[in-house]
Parts: sequence; C-alpha cells; structure tokens
Amino acid sequence: MKARTIREGIQWMGFVDWNRRLFDALIPLPDGTSYNAYLIQGSDKTALIDAVDPAMADTLQQQLDGVAKIDYIVAQHAEQDHSGTIPLILEMYKEAIVLCTPKAKNLLVDHLEIAAERIQTVSDGETISLGNKTLRFIYTPWVHWPETMVTYLAEDRIVFTCDFLGSHLAMSGLYAGDDPYVMLAAKRYYAEIMMPFRKAIQGNLKKLREIDFDLIAPSHGPIWDHPEMIMSAYEDWVSDQVKDLVVLPYISMHGSTEMMVDHLVAALAERGVTVKKFELTSTDIGKLAMALVDAATIVIGTPTVHLGPHPSVYSATHLANALRPKVRHAAIIGSYGWGTKVVEQLSGLTPNLKAEILGTVLCKGLPREETFAELDALADAIRDKHSAL
Ligand code: FEO
Repeated sequence: MKARTIREGIQWMGFVDWNRRLFDALIPLPDGTSYNAYLIQGSDKTALIDAVDPAMADTLQQQLDGVAKIDYIVAQHAEQDHSGTIPLILEMYKEAIVLCTPKAKNLLVDHLEIAAERIQTVSDGETISLGNKTLRFIYTPWVHWPETMVTYLAEDRIVFTCDFLGSHLAMSGLYAGDDPYVMLAAKRYYAEIMMPFRKAIQGNLKKLREIDFDLIAPSHGPIWDHPEMIMSAYEDWVSDQVKDLVVLPYISMHGSTEMMVDHLVAALAERGVTVKKFELTSTDIGKLAMALVDAATIVIGTPTVHLGPHPSVYSATHLANALRPKVRHAAIIGSYGWGTKVVEQLSGLTPNLKAEILGTVLCKGLPREETFAELDALADAIRDKHSAL
C-alpha cells in the first residue's frame, strides 16, 4: 500500500483494512476500516498528522521510506489506533516532537510511555508554521475522548479531523464523492462511537463552520470531498429533532412476546407510524444504534428470565443507555411465565434515557384480547406523541 498525493506537499499514508470485522473487541465492522495518517511537507518543516494502529506499523514505516525528516507529529487523539505508532516514529526521527492538547499529553504519557520532554502542547487556535503551510489547531473535545482536536491547513483548505466525521469503511478510492454508501457507514460510525457526545459535537460543528475548507480528511474512512454532505448530516444527527420512528428491539422465547410485538407493529403501521424492529438473537447492533440516531420512541420487548429481562435484551438496553440517544418516549412490552420484575430492572438500566414512559404491557403466558387492547392503546399514545413532533 503506497502513499498517495492529495495536494502538492500533502500525502495520504496509512492502511486500508478490508478484513477487520470487530473494533475495540466491541464494534462490528461489516465494511472494514482504514487508518489514515497525513504527511504535510512545507517549505521549511514537515509534519505527520496522526499515525496508525501498531499492527500496521510496518506499512507506515515503508511509506515513510525516503522522508528525510519529520519535525512534528500531530497527535489529534491519544487512542492507540492513531497514536500507537508514535513511539516508533519518534525513534525513527530523533528530532521530531509531538504536538497535542494538554489532556492528550497526559494520555500519551500514560498509555504509550512517550517521554514528556518530547511532547509540546498547543492551545486552542494556536498556529505552527511549516514555511509555506500553516497548521492551526482547533480543540474539538469529546469526539470521542476528552483530549481531541482537529488541524486546519488554511493554505490548502483542508481540515484533518481524526475520528470526528470519520467512517469505518474500506475503499479502494481515497475520496467519498457523493456515494450514499459512504454516508451509511458514517452514520453507523456516528451512532456507535459519537452519539453519546451529541451535545459536545453540536459545539464542535459550530467551530468547524467558522473555517473554510474543501476537504475533510478524517483518520478513518475516505476523505470528504463534498464536505457539506457530512457536515449537514451531522448537524441533523446531533440536533434535538427526532423523527416519526419507533425502534423495537426484542426477544421472544416461546412466541408470546413475538405475538405482542407483531400486534404492536401492525397497530402502529395502521396509525401511520414507522417501526424498525430488531430481533436480538440475530441483529447487527450497529443497525440498532443507527436507528436510535433518529427515533422518537423506543419500545423494548422482552420475556422474563429469572424475574428479569432476557440477557440479550439486558445487553441491548445497556447499550442504548450508554449511547444516550435522543428518544423522547419509551415503553416495555412482554410475556412472563410466573412472575416478573422486568420493568424495575429495565428502568434501573436506563438512567441516561430522558424518555417519558408511555406504558408497559405485560401478560402472563399467551397474550389475550385484553393484552391486544392494551397494545392498541399504547399504539394510540405513541401516534399522539409523534403527531405532535
Ligand atoms: Fe479511531 Fe478513538 O480512535
């Protein structure tokens, strides 16, 4: 994998990982990913923006073959998939120093044992000249760690954003173009990684709106050469607006909860409300997370296992709570065998969801006429709330 020229004096480096299927031992990667680093050679000095995961160190080392000097390594984010190779680069280039935020400095020392004397912190808005090119550092905290920043290269109208505005997507091309497939990958990435920090991202997007750029160069996925596409998509995702959508993750063990789910889905559809249901034994949690980006309501369907929710529902609910989606309404439905505490346990799992509970519909054994009537009433309540959106 060779370096590629983006502009005069600016090269993409890194590794396109078509085969990786899991990130951080947690996040599904159906479409692979890439680790992007960028070499900027000014008339006086040279900077490397981000590095790569240590597993790809050999590739970056080969790409740097022939690069006589690096003065600065810009560590926009301390997580290892971008900073893990910095110790190697510092070994290769004895004069190089790391530029990062003060918070990143502490993390780089703690996580990678980089010598503090080789790290220079930069302030928000500070500039560093490379001669004919100037780096400006803009703090963008909480995308998705507290120390993150982006780097603006005004002369070339490029903003380098690391994880922010990235996507887990392997592609042969360097640029996103206007491919909707890339937007889907970007939405998945936002949902799985960035959504808990929605409020911080609102502020970070405003800071980006204050600069002019033609390219957004993240450190995962393709470069945005139609940057308005991803900027406006993010502004929609992080907005306080929700859509007329119900997300319904569920499990059914003996069919009773499934009967309730099917009835509710049909009742909502009859009322013109869109539903996305996710059967959790087979669902891609990334798709569930993506649906939660927009949904106004979440309905959790679960049977009762040892008085509590099914473990898969427990896990999905824990995830939904951690992702802090902007859902406004919630409900719980399900069947139990002889007793249940699913409502108490699921409520305890969701302190981050600021949702109004529209109802719980639980039945012992098979759902009956009165159960279906309760589900119809729940569908009415959801329709009424959604019609007010
Ligand atoms: Fe791609 Fe937060 O690292």
